[in-house]
Amino acid sequence: FSNCLVSRREVLRAGTALAVTTLMLKPSPSFATPASEYRISPGRARAALKGENGPATGVWAYDGRIPGPELRLRQGVPARIVVENRLEEDTTVHWHGIRLPNAMDGVPGLTQPPIKPGESFVYEFTPPDAGTFWYHPHADSLQQLGRGLAGALIVEEADPVPVDRDLLWVLTDWRLDADAQIAPGFGNRMEAAMSGRVGNTVTLNGTVPGTQGVRAGERVRLRLVNTSLARIMALRFDGHRPVVVATDGQPCDPHEPDGGRLLLGPAMRIDLIIDMQGDPGSRHAVVDDFYDELAYELTTFAYADDAPLRKNPLDAPFRLPANPLPQPDLGDAERLDLALQGGMMSGMGGNMMGGGMMQGMGGMTHGRATWSINGTSMTGDGHAGMPPLMTLAQGRSQLVTMRNETAWWHPMHLHGFSFRVLKRNGAAVPHSLWADTVLLAPRDTVELAFVADNPGDWMLHCHITDHQTAGLMTVLRVG
Ligand code: C2O
Ligand code: CU
Repeated sequence: FSNCLVSRREVLRAGTALAVTTLMLKPSPSFATPASEYRISPGRARAALKGENGPATGVWAYDGRIPGPELRLRQGVPARIVVENRLEEDTTVHWHGIRLPNAMDGVPGLTQPPIKPGESFVYEFTPPDAGTFWYHPHADSLQQLGRGLAGALIVEEADPVPVDRDLLWVLTDWRLDADAQIAPGFGNRMEAAMSGRVGNTVTLNGTVPGTQGVRAGERVRLRLVNTSLARIMALRFDGHRPVVVATDGQPCDPHEPDGGRLLLGPAMRIDLIIDMQGDPGSRHAVVDDFYDELAYELTTFAYADDAPLRKNPLDAPFRLPANPLPQPDLGDAERLDLALQGGMMSGMGGNMMGGGMMQGMGGMTHGRATWSINGTSMTGDGHAGMPPLMTLAQGRSQLVTMRNETAWWHPMHLHGFSFRVLKRNGAAVPHSLWADTVLLAPRDTVELAFVADNPGDWMLHCHITDHQTAGLMTVLRVG
């Protein structure tokens, strides 16, 4: 298979070339070789979200790229990433899903001072787990994420995984105006109490989707990352039978998704194995129908005319090697009850789209406009000053019951840990799923477990960014 070779020196040079602040760039290549040192710079740039011939959109981007450069680390190998802030405001970088020392977690005012414009911060950590992760700012999150600051962070297995190709789709959406510029109005209070800022333009690896070229007979590992502010996706692969092999980077029992539909909320990742069994020359749609009245074709698998790569499809089962996660001991666990509360209490069930539809709803101002966890609301991005919601004994297993008492969906993210997803609404969750972000439907209750082995103050929040910044956020202290 073809591999786009980028040497470490080229990566570093690309990083430092950014003295020029405004660049017109192509989408990131979908494959890089691993390195242990990177330098990335968030700053203003222009991006061809609507394709090479479309109008350029002013964005904020890492190294001028949408999505940010794909960072590839190696499991168990120390990494050093220098972040140089070329924005006109403070920033930080959060390495979403990586189990790392608290001081490297990238939360301003909680784990580090903010990186001021023109300043740099050096992040150093050794990723213990192989898998699909991502990175994004944790300051002025609505704008910084909503204007484009996000990238994939891949941690490679110690031994290569036997697939023909490793594909990465960084999926996000944007709210663009008629001139293809990012619409203002971040932090709209009505949206914050409902579905959040769902955009009107979805991009795949930084551009409106075209086709994904594939070859008959090949076995593809497809890494899906949803970096949207608020858009939940439900993906169907017509004519294919994708097998889920990891959720949020953590290997699970290989399984086909329920009803063939993959739910991918903001910040969530899924690794799939897909055996390409279409005929040479055929085309097959990949559809997102979460907002069912607004289903659209995300992209299309376009088969090359070449003869199949192998005569008989592979049928060997595929399982990723396990990561060294501490196994919670449920017999000796501390119990934690978390209630998610607030938001608009209409009966719309969360399948409400932002943008156009939202503007027609100015009259609906009753209902609670903010969110809380166990009655407390941490808002904005200033994480300083609020005491932790609770303190967990270091080293103890934790059994968490999380109840969504609201009428809206919430992808709930815990920093610093991966947790087992044990139960949903009382029923055991199959396939040994681990996650760092769990999607709760309206009124869902989930049961999670993890070992509080990593000391520090850790954020717990909804990854629909409007919900996070409007109160659906708290801090758990371990130690
Ligand atoms: Cu990706 Cu605090 O989150
Ligand atoms: Cu939420």
